[in-house]
Amino acid sequence: MRELPIGIFDSGMGGISVLKEMKKLMPYEDYIYYGDSKNIPYGIKTKEELQKLCIQIGDYFINRGVKSIVIACNTATSASVDLFRERYDIPIIGVEPALKPAIERHHGGKIIVLATNVTLKEKKFAKLMDQYKDEADIIKLPAPKLVTVVENGITKGEEAQRAILETFEGIDIKEVSSVVLGCTHYIFLKDTMKKILGDEIELIDGGEGTAIHLKNVLSEKGWLKDEEKEGTIEIINSSDDEEKINLSYTLLKS
Ligand code: DGL
Repeated sequence: MRELPIGIFDSGMGGISVLKEMKKLMPYEDYIYYGDSKNIPYGIKTKEELQKLCIQIGDYFINRGVKSIVIACNTATSASVDLFRERYDIPIIGVEPALKPAIERHHGGKIIVLATNVTLKEKKFAKLMDQYKDEADIIKLPAPKLVTVVENGITKGEEAQRAILETFEGIDIKEVSSVVLGCTHYIFLKDTMKKILGDEIELIDGGEGTAIHLKNVLSEKGWLKDEEKEGTIEIINSSDDEEKINLSYTLLKS
């Protein structure tokens, strides 16, 4: 088992932000990244549609032979993490908006959770919200535009700034203390968002936490690879647009 690669997927480019953290923490592991850009956005699909798409990717990984699957997409996790755990006999790592760390660091002010419509509406997030709703003023904010810009490889400059400004229209920034980046695409906009929102607002994401969790799970099983040798990264994309692969590598190096 320990010699097998780790499968990681997202609706497109977003999960590369999680792959970056995994690579940083475990450079000796082999990774297969699957971006489902042909079917993006996931954030407006039904649960049934998402489960169908995710299972196809999950089965693909199982056929290739992987030791773990990381669902590097909050939306896909909401729809299919339970199904994956029933269907596959390997560790399944999901992601969720990092509301818990945001609450732990909270010193007053509003917490904004930026995520897709599906993530914000699904039961999984409702449960998380229930757990923390009395501890802070939490605002749910869907941000589909931000998915589109990142998917097109735009993380800086005027277009990215405009999309961020539009997303926060109607929000009084002075009342906000932190923003949870509850979609893996948004993590690539961190620097640009910081410029617009200012240094006082903390931007919180779960990328590093996911990598640490994966390492712990593999370590407990004795499935971590030998640290001596640098691992490999294979990137696959469902889209016919070959640019998506180049873009994925560019984002990986960013
Ligand atoms: N990257 C995905 C997430 O973390 C969502 C993007 C999409 O709508 O496809 O939720």
